[in-house]
Amino acid sequence: LVTDLVFAGSDNAFADEHVLSMAQYGRDDLELLFRVADELSVRRLGHGLLAGKLMVSAFFDQSTRTRLAHEAAMLRLGGAVTGFADPSVTRAAGGTRESHEDIARMITMYGDVVVVRHPVTGWPARAAATGEGALVINGGDGVGEHPTQTMVDLYTLRQRFGRIDGLRLLLVNDLRMRCVRSLLSALRHYDCEIYAIPADGKENPEFPEVHICDDLRSVVSKVDVVYSSPTVGPQLDGPDSVAGVSLDRTLLEQHGHQDLAVLHPLPRKHEVTADVDDTPFNAYWAQARNGVPVRMALLALMFGAR
Ligand code: CP
Repeated sequence: LVTDLVFAGSDNAFADEHVLSMAQYGRDDLELLFRVADELSVRRLGHGLLAGKLMVSAFFDQSTRTRLAHEAAMLRLGGAVTGFADPSVTRAAGGTRESHEDIARMITMYGDVVVVRHPVTGWPARAAATGEGALVINGGDGVGEHPTQTMVDLYTLRQRFGRIDGLRLLLVNDLRMRCVRSLLSALRHYDCEIYAIPADGKENPEFPEVHICDDLRSVVSKVDVVYSSPTVGPQLDGPDSVAGVSLDRTLLEQHGHQDLAVLHPLPRKHEVTADVDDTPFNAYWAQARNGVPVRMALLALMFGAR
């Protein structure tokens, strides 16, 4: 079993390390993560692995999936969770605003691992740098990265297609989003064709390998995956917000091939309409569900050598 290997101290890039960026991982690391996730979810192994460990869940920005999936993963592994989902109940808000430095030190002082979401890009790295000992997981920082979302996305593709290499992906909507930036960074390890229809029509200069297109119907007909980002997030609201494209059942049935998968990290607005939910194109419920086993695998690997 992979889990036996992990706890025997085999090559494990996650052990005792912060999780800040997808740039930390190669495809062998991701394959290890996915195999452990398979064992933890399909074979129901690993429960009780993290008994005695404590996660601090520090969400300075809104979240449904990232917070709940990390907390569920920790609890399912036998660990404990404390934290906050709303910074207004902490000294980060109100009349006595603590400095970022003091807050970062506090959240890394009380637990073995901290999952943090913050509107300021780079904030999780600042928390990791306090040296207080807790391992830090970036749960999404401003327009930086969302590495665990990408782990979930790739796991979902591997589960659905049995591979990641060879897939043709179309990214629609906002290429500036952290989930897209982490995904594109990780896809450099795989042999994929990547197309994009950014709602603002602009390429992301960080990723020149992405083919920018404008005809949605024609590109949908030749890809295996359409990945929609949210069109706006709290960090991008304002004049830079973009309307984006909308994927609906009629468009997908008329132009997509029968195995086409639609992924979306959620929350969605108009980007994927509700009439897609009951079609075989829907891979976003599986993607959301996979949030727990992938985070279980990640946490198990992070503490694998301890
Ligand atoms: N996918 C994602 O990050 O969702 P939340 O904002 O609800 O955590």
